[in-house]
Amino acid sequence: MTTAKSFVEVGEREIKKLPTLRGKTIVNLFYEPSTRTRISFELAGKRLSADIINFSEKASAAAKGESLKDTTRTLNAMNINAVVIRHPYPGSPYIVARNTRARVINAGDGCHEHPTQSLLDLFTIKKRLGYLKGLKAIIVGDIFHSRVARSNILAFKKMGMEVKVVAPPTLLPAQVEELGAECSYNLAEAVSEADIIYLLRMQTERQARAFIPSIREYVRYYGLNRTLLKKAKEDVLIMHPGPMTRGVEIESDLADIPQSTIVEQVTSGIAVRMAILYLILSGDESE
Ligand code: CP
Repeated sequence: MTTAKSFVEVGEREIKKLPTLRGKTIVNLFYEPSTRTRISFELAGKRLSADIINFSEKASAAAKGESLKDTTRTLNAMNINAVVIRHPYPGSPYIVARNTRARVINAGDGCHEHPTQSLLDLFTIKKRLGYLKGLKAIIVGDIFHSRVARSNILAFKKMGMEVKVVAPPTLLPAQVEELGAECSYNLAEAVSEADIIYLLRMQTERQARAFIPSIREYVRYYGLNRTLLKKAKEDVLIMHPGPMTRGVEIESDLADIPQSTIVEQVTSGIAVRMAILYLILSGDESE
């Protein structure tokens, strides 16, 4: 985060470019749709003067059945320096790491983890509030399918924050407390003590069965609305990793009020990802 802070200013310049990673090649290996993560990694790499190659599953040999292992070995043969991987299967970054000499960054692997999202979330909170230790965050929604929830519980706890996950029982994974989070089924109760309300999208694309009776019922008990927000602290932060479904996890106009950091999180993502690329790609290759 300290390194990221020094990159914020670059994004505000007329010429947003540093020569730091000239001659390095980064492949964005995306097997799942993405707007924020893919574009911000691409911008981060370009602002550091790296060469960026965007891979999409549908336009590659993966569409003809090539395995992740063989695709990685093919990229490795091209002597690339880093792979940014997003994949629907948990653990896929480890398969990539075993088959290339390049540095590997997890940009989201199934329901497992999304570590760079957590770093940009922490960066945004610190920028807004000035500190992290002792803050109380509630993470609300589809915890079961959320890689952001898993990474954020670990990251927030590591920085000394308290974390509570709030969801219907069917959307809370077993043993989530082992990650260090408290659990609650009651959003109306949980909002009053929170410094941060972190909302999650219902991941219907990963839900193989019905986890809730209806979206209407979910909105009634777990959607953030103005009535609930009145119970919260005046300066509470409203966060969301995006993409959001306005009118479901968040009443539409609450996404645009001053307490919402949703757009700011996107901006933080570029500086944080520049820092990540800089830290893993600059310096001695043998380290
Ligand atoms: N937050 C996030 O990962 O968004 P994208 O799916 O658009 O990358």
